[in-house]
Amino acid sequence: MSDFILEATDIRKTFGKGDRAVKAVDGISVRIRRGKTLGILGESGSGKSTLGRCILRLIEPDGGTIKFDGKTVSGIPQSQFRPNRRNMQMIFQNPFSSLNPKMSIGEAIEDPMRIWKIGDKESRRKRVTELLDMVGINPRRSAAYPYEFSGGQQQRINIARALSLDPKFIVCDEAVSALDVSIQTQIVNLLMDLQKHLGLTYLFISHNLGVVEYLADDVLIMQHGKLVEYAPTEEIFKNPRSEYTRNLIASVPAMPTAAHLQAKEADRIARGKGLASARSAVAG
Ligand SMILES: Nc1ncnc2c1ncn2[C@@H]1O[C@H](COP(=O)(O)OP(=O)(O)OP(=O)(O)O)[C@@H](O)[C@H]1O
Ligand SMILES: [Mg+2]
Repeated sequence: MSDFILEATDIRKTFGKGDRAVKAVDGISVRIRRGKTLGILGESGSGKSTLGRCILRLIEPDGGTIKFDGKTVSGIPQSQFRPNRRNMQMIFQNPFSSLNPKMSIGEAIEDPMRIWKIGDKESRRKRVTELLDMVGINPRRSAAYPYEFSGGQQQRINIARALSLDPKFIVCDEAVSALDVSIQTQIVNLLMDLQKHLGLTYLFISHNLGVVEYLADDVLIMQHGKLVEYAPTEEIFKNPRSEYTRNLIASVPAMPTAAHLQAKEADRIARGKGLASARSAVAG
């Protein structure tokens, strides 16, 4: 078994033609170890989301190869790719629009299992309860609708939904960016808890350097679709090699810093709010 759950090599994607062509992703290669997090940083329009979507084949890359869990998943028809979808999920920026307003949150979380014909009604209900528990939402609220929850709670529900198929890899595209700073911290800590308990691998796209510094093992910096720097997180932040990275770091607005997040995490652990049920829930 390869150490790397994901290996994407020389990914390319151009939008438009001729004078209008935009090389959104221009020859990017990434490798992510099982259970680790790769952070993607770069100014707006640098190609971060396009890279994430190409890796999940939500849009078709023009070139490059993608290996997932040891298998080549690029250059095969979507129909053959589809079984991999269960293992590769995405969490988006806007928690409310990611949820169907006409479905109760329980139905929304059950939906992927129903589509994939996993279990029966009863076992799926049980799993919904476990998932809600895991993300810190009272399972007794499973019949409530998305609008009845706060933004942070909605993102917890999206996370539960993304986890319903027991994926190995999740692309988080600005997953905390729309939330209040204090709520961002909670969701980031939830994602990290889940990673630890479930062995998840993340591709974490963000504008927020503090958050990336806090949770990523490695960081890839992008500009105009190209790789600027790619190194372990500590190296990037302690010793940025490019002017572009230095400017990105210097231009951080008043966002939570890694130190701030660490203090919050220590506080949370002290209060004993662990994710005790996560492991048993997945095993079951
Ligand atoms: N579907 C599309 N059609 C045409 N151009 C697109 C499309 N999607 C993205 N682009 C262009 O590709 C480039 C990269 O966009 P992308 O959304 O990947 O950047 P990003 O780094 O995620 O930006 P942001 O931080 O604002 O989310 C931009 O110039 C964008 O306008
Ligand atoms: Mg984006």
